[in-house]
Amino acid sequence: MRIIRNVVQMHTLARRWQKAGRKVGFVPTMGYLHEGHASLMSQARKRVGTHGIVVVSIFVNPTQFAPTDDLTKYPRDLPGDTRLCRSRGVNVIFAPTDDSMYPKTGAGFSTFVEELQVSQGMEGSSRPTHFRGVTTVVAKLFNIVLPTVAVFGAKDFQQAAVIKKMVADLNFPVEILVSETVREPDGLAMSSRNSYLSPSGRRQASALHEAIESAKATVAGGKALNPESLANKLKQRIETQPDAQVDYIAFFDANTLRPAKRVKKGVHMALAVRVEKTRLIDNDQL
Ligand code: PAF
Repeated sequence: MRIIRNVVQMHTLARRWQKAGRKVGFVPTMGYLHEGHASLMSQARKRVGTHGIVVVSIFVNPTQFAPTDDLTKYPRDLPGDTRLCRSRGVNVIFAPTDDSMYPKTGAGFSTFVEELQVSQGMEGSSRPTHFRGVTTVVAKLFNIVLPTVAVFGAKDFQQAAVIKKMVADLNFPVEILVSETVREPDGLAMSSRNSYLSPSGRRQASALHEAIESAKATVAGGKALNPESLANKLKQRIETQPDAQVDYIAFFDANTLRPAKRVKKGVHMALAVRVEKTRLIDNDQL
């Protein structure tokens, strides 16, 4: 397994693979890797086969953090990440430096990619500049790594939708796979941010998954419900946890991401909840 920190070197290698007709499976990450990421790596390997190449990028992308988010506190562990990637048969880790991705000297950096439809609402409302940072860095990474297929986690459902739309709109020659959320035994979706939680916060964090399960049970009987009243009920239930505060609970169509007029079986639910100081998200189809 190789670790590449230089954009030009990565691009040169990717062009060589492309010329040789080798398939490249790509897993973009911000590091601090866990079993959720490992399952994305397995999907990539499955898709490109044993003769293909699996590349994992590790880059804590500054442009997707708001000035108020603590970018410097984002967890990092390159030695641990390297061990996990090696154990999962990854061929190349691409871990570029901030300056090679966003040069501050010379001409600097002044071009952004922005999706204006599915990026609205939910995460887009709560974190206004977030998706612009995501699409910009993912577009850059696609141009550097030249993947045949890229794998994203379903936990970040809106992110996957935004990336699919960017790829369709801008004709990126890459297939996007969205891989199922990997969960802890109590249902909490795996996330690098879970490491911020205290033991008490960690217990309270299962409230997100419980809220989704409760909504599923509510619509299972075939009833169609008013979205605001169901969201309020679930919010109250989640906020019985002393350190949990709901940011949003949304019900929408999984393809268009347009809000659902009535909540019934098949509608998609997403929520964001601050537990202690950590903002957690989850989603599923009801
Ligand atoms: O999901 C993530 O970890 C990031 O948003 C991504 C896609 C790697 C872009 O920085």
